[in-house]
Amino acid sequence: MLKRTIEWQNGTVATIDQTRLPNETIILKMKSCEEVADTIRTMKIRGAPLLGAAAAFALALTAHNSKAKSREQLISELEKSAEILKRTRPTAVNLFWGIDRILTKAKGSSGNAKALAFSIVEEAQKIADEDVRANRLIGKYGAELIDDGDVVLTHCNAGALATVDYGTALGVIRFAWKHGKRIRVIATETRLKLQGARLTTYELKRDGIPVTLITDNMVGYSMHKRLVSKVVVGADRIVRDAVINKIGTFTIAVLAKEHGIPFYVAAPKSTFDLKHKSADVIIEERKPEEVTHINSSRIAAEGIEVMNPAFDITPLKYVTAIICESGILYKKEFDKFKADYHN
Ligand code: MRU
Repeated sequence: MLKRTIEWQNGTVATIDQTRLPNETIILKMKSCEEVADTIRTMKIRGAPLLGAAAAFALALTAHNSKAKSREQLISELEKSAEILKRTRPTAVNLFWGIDRILTKAKGSSGNAKALAFSIVEEAQKIADEDVRANRLIGKYGAELIDDGDVVLTHCNAGALATVDYGTALGVIRFAWKHGKRIRVIATETRLKLQGARLTTYELKRDGIPVTLITDNMVGYSMHKRLVSKVVVGADRIVRDAVINKIGTFTIAVLAKEHGIPFYVAAPKSTFDLKHKSADVIIEERKPEEVTHINSSRIAAEGIEVMNPAFDITPLKYVTAIICESGILYKKEFDKFKADYHN
């Protein structure tokens, strides 16, 4: 078993195949950047913060395996690997953040290729360690917003499996539970890849936190029946005007506002992209077969048009607060943040 969702183990990167959970626990041992890229593309690993760490470790594999004779040659190999990684999934900004951080480190360092390779592996490990620390702080700050007896609705999987460890939205829930708040969770199944049904319920059950699974289209009913006290979700990218997260998040946010239910977003600063607006972001469009088929059986008429965006855009006016490792950001702090980035 792994201690974290992703680990550097002497020149290999180990992780768990999330497409096989909860029925099977398959550990993947990746030895090259291409293998990590393929694991990301096929969603064996997923979740924004995990993608940031995975991209960094993928570049660490390039550095570790390199036979480059000079620092310049190794940097050029890293740049080629970065291009491969950037083409895997377009929406979660953490992936690009992880790549940029490693390239910046590489370009800013001196010494020979061997010394550079060593420092790249070190930097990737640092990124992973920082993610765990950030998640624990998010959990601590976010738990202040949770009251004893609350029923917290969450969407997709923003747990330990979506991060290096602990989780963002599930980190908040975990921290509150661990510190004695008797809460319950409602997890949406999260069509189409069912991250809520397969991963969130698995994580919560493992921790003994009571969870009720619903389909995505039961959110309105649950809120109308006053079964939900608060919503906490993760994010793939927080831009100047919106939060971009798993498809279905926007619907939940609108329903929450209509019912007067606080809607919180938990995300580390590596998910913030305040130089951009939602219109600048590429929303990943996935294969039509994910919509027309269930378990490889066709359920829809042949030859029809299909839309399959993996993420949606929730304007900030629907967000009560963003919980990050520096604390809780309310509306006026968002505005300050935006102003800071404007100049
Ligand atoms: O398509 P996925 O499974 O990578 O989407 C994941 C999400 O939308 C999560 O909510 C988000 O990455 C935050 S994870 C801490």
